[in-house]
Amino acid sequence: MKFSWRELPTPFFVLAPMEDVTDTVFRQIVAKHGAPDVYITEFTNTDALCSKGEENALQRLRFSEKERPIIAQIWGIHPKEYYEAAQKIVKLGFDGIDINMGCPQRDVIKNGACAALIKNHALTKEILGATRDGAEGLPLSVKTRIGYSKVETEDWIGFLLEQHLDALTIHARTVREMSAVPAHWGEVKTTVLLRDKKQVGTVIVGNGDVADKKDGRGKAAKTGADGIMIGRGIFHNLFAFREDSDVWHNLPLLEKLTILKQHVTLYKSTWGARKNFPVLKKFFKIYINGFENASAIRMQFMATSTPDEAIALADQLLA
Ligand SMILES: Cc1cc2nc3c(=O)[nH]c(=O)nc-3n(C[C@H](O)[C@H](O)[C@H](O)COP(=O)(O)O)c2cc1C
Repeated sequence: MKFSWRELPTPFFVLAPMEDVTDTVFRQIVAKHGAPDVYITEFTNTDALCSKGEENALQRLRFSEKERPIIAQIWGIHPKEYYEAAQKIVKLGFDGIDINMGCPQRDVIKNGACAALIKNHALTKEILGATRDGAEGLPLSVKTRIGYSKVETEDWIGFLLEQHLDALTIHARTVREMSAVPAHWGEVKTTVLLRDKKQVGTVIVGNGDVADKKDGRGKAAKTGADGIMIGRGIFHNLFAFREDSDVWHNLPLLEKLTILKQHVTLYKSTWGARKNFPVLKKFFKIYINGFENASAIRMQFMATSTPDEAIALADQLLA
């Protein structure tokens, strides 16, 4: 059945796209232990996807059936490549396409991509048109921030609301603010009011500092957001998308170690030598946390240098 943002529960919950974090392996772990309603890939460059060396880009777009509905997130600068990327995404079997217009990394914005589009409405319009042409009816969404140097919700978000998007995720900070200040949830409410005033059907997703489902429900009730996206919250609570998310904090070490082992084992069978082992190390903190001796055990995991060593250590501790 075709995915529709409008047919999700209210509020619905989305696992945020996070580069080098939310690959197919971690999404499968989250799906197994507390699934969100929607998954999004790491951001994937349209030029890379349309080049001969597309393999790395395709790696970012790898997914399994356990991660449905799955949205491909893309970024770039050339409308033609957006069209071609959209065509590939259709063929790969994705449920939707999301365009990154919020990433503040210097190397991407210096070329006018991602958050730099906030200052370029004309190119944004072209990109959306080209992507829609290539998307063959797949839902089209944008993830962005509330302004560049200052809050520009009326101007920028107001403009996006006129682009017939199926969904719009608001990371409620400006580009300049990076992640250094608390998210301005009042601007999510402003977005919902603007959407209603303009009488458009775009589904609004609020994002920024949400700890778990309970916290998200409260923020959705206050702002009227249709959906809530959780990113870094998952680093502190793997059960963030479960109603009983607090269970995570008291989960015995042996159960956390079992999940860590599942993660490393799936990482090994999925990626083999194609990804660097250090990428995996950031996850150890998620699992080895919240009990006595956690930091000593974490240091043992940090000292491992292959998936096999990490699995052997987990086995030793589990025994
Ligand atoms: C490690 C990391 C990688 C990220 N990568 C992406 C990305 O690929 N695409 C994107 O739209 N946002 C990316 N983000 C931003 C998050 O999706 C999210 O908007 C941000 O972290 C705020 O939400 P949070 O407070 O729930 O974490 C990334 C954030 C982090 C921490």
